[in-house]
Amino acid sequence: MSFKKNILCIGAGYVGGPTMAMIAAKCPQYKVTVVDINQKRINEWNSDSLPIFEPGLHDLVKVARDRNLFFSTEVEKGIREADIIFVSVNTPTKTFGQGAGMAADLQYWEKTARQILANSDHDKIIVEKSTLPIRTAMAMERILNGGTGNLRFEVLSNPEFLAEGSAIKDLENPDRVLIGSRETDHGLKARKELVEIYANWVPREKIIESNVWSAELSKLTANAFLAQRVSSINSLSALCEVTEADIEEVAYAVGTDSRIGNKFLKASVGFGGSCFKKDILNLVYICQSYGLNEVADYWESVVLLNEWQEKRFVFNMLSNMFNTVAGKKIAVLGFAFKANTGDTRESPAINITRWLLEERALVNVSDPEALGNARKDLNDIREGIEFIEDPYKAAEGTHAIAILTEWDMYRKLDYKRILDSMAKPAFIFDGRNILNHKELFDMGFNVFAIGKAPLKHF
Ligand code: NAD
Ligand code: UGA
Repeated sequence: MSFKKNILCIGAGYVGGPTMAMIAAKCPQYKVTVVDINQKRINEWNSDSLPIFEPGLHDLVKVARDRNLFFSTEVEKGIREADIIFVSVNTPTKTFGQGAGMAADLQYWEKTARQILANSDHDKIIVEKSTLPIRTAMAMERILNGGTGNLRFEVLSNPEFLAEGSAIKDLENPDRVLIGSRETDHGLKARKELVEIYANWVPREKIIESNVWSAELSKLTANAFLAQRVSSINSLSALCEVTEADIEEVAYAVGTDSRIGNKFLKASVGFGGSCFKKDILNLVYICQSYGLNEVADYWESVVLLNEWQEKRFVFNMLSNMFNTVAGKKIAVLGFAFKANTGDTRESPAINITRWLLEERALVNVSDPEALGNARKDLNDIREGIEFIEDPYKAAEGTHAIAILTEWDMYRKLDYKRILDSMAKPAFIFDGRNILNHKELFDMGFNVFAIGKAPLKHF
């Protein structure tokens, strides 16, 4: 079968895999190849046991795999054949040198740029899919145009807005697709080609076009705004806990104002995920490097508040459990950074579990999908921790339960059965406000939720 064009995606992670599966499923006229240097990941993409858990992903992959969707480790071959290359490699926070702990680490990104140049023999469109600092397209262009000068590489920015756990829904029916390009004839032509691909399933009015810098900055801004809402509501959750206001009632009352809107106002133990913190710190670093220190401080406070919210949760546990958890068993229910994903990157559960262990608590970690990652996150810990998938077993004999992920299954547990199996007095700390607190209190639990007055029997 001959295809209209060859699309390549470099990076078969949480973004590359699902986005390319959607493009392949919706555009059978294109051949879509996803390459990665990680052989294990590629083998999993080619099997029935995909490397990431995402509702609906397996069915989507099955639609197109081996028809016009291929997963491979042959990066150079993929580059040679491709007309359009999405780059979706990881861009974590730098851990070394200048900007350590703040700036984006662009080494994987730059390596792909050089690899593209070394293996190209015809013009290509390069699409930034990874989240990148503003003006990265300029660096990409400079590397790509450092060759013989016979080839044309047009660099587009097409940031991804999917959220984990709802990736397939978000890809199928996005709020918008953003495509930025240079505003030259060649840039606009390349932009049009990408618009054409998305227009196979995304309504035209949802495809936003912009200059390349606006597209790059819009991605960082969107994540900063989302995280800012969570930190805003979390900051007020602390005030609610000491004033008997209820954060859910406040969020509802505030969110019904159509100018504010009701989404992303769920108070929690803190936001996690691979991107919010990394992208905000990246934004902070960029602002600092332009001398915009007030702007940098403003956004950094969103991250600082989030760290405080995690610490506050552990402090609440400690102070309410008579100022000591040493030798006490605690069940951590939920280790993923949000429900419906096995991803634990930057999950509040990591810090909270570590702090509880530092206080010499004995922690049983439970999660329906994330125990594999939890084991890796805590693999340096030698004692005091157990990983138990069954939440009833994890809660048995414990003094306290901490709900750290809003898995639906935790709403439906038989809490009477759990209470009967626990040490008394029994504590429950609902870090996601998913339980019926009054019912649990009447049953005999001492209940501590986020942004609500505590319900205790003493
Ligand atoms: P990931 O770590 O899951 O996947 C990245 C993949 O790139 C890895 O499998 C890695 O092996 C591969 N890779 C790195 N260098 C390579 C190279 N030179 N050649 C081939 N493969 C290479 O990361 P992710 O979560 O998919 O994120 C990718 C980008 O998308 C990041 O910039 C992130 O900020 C952004 N993003 C992520 C999400 C999300 O929900 N995870 C959402 C929107 C945007
Ligand atoms: C987020 C954005 O929502 C995506 O648009 C973006 O593409 C992505 O980051 C990215 O760039 O990686 P994600 O991190 O997968 O997606 O998940 P979110 O649903 O945004 O949740 C992030 C964190 O905030 C989770 O820990 C979640 O529990 C927390 N959260 C979210 C709250 O505590 N309260 C809320 O009201 C909403």
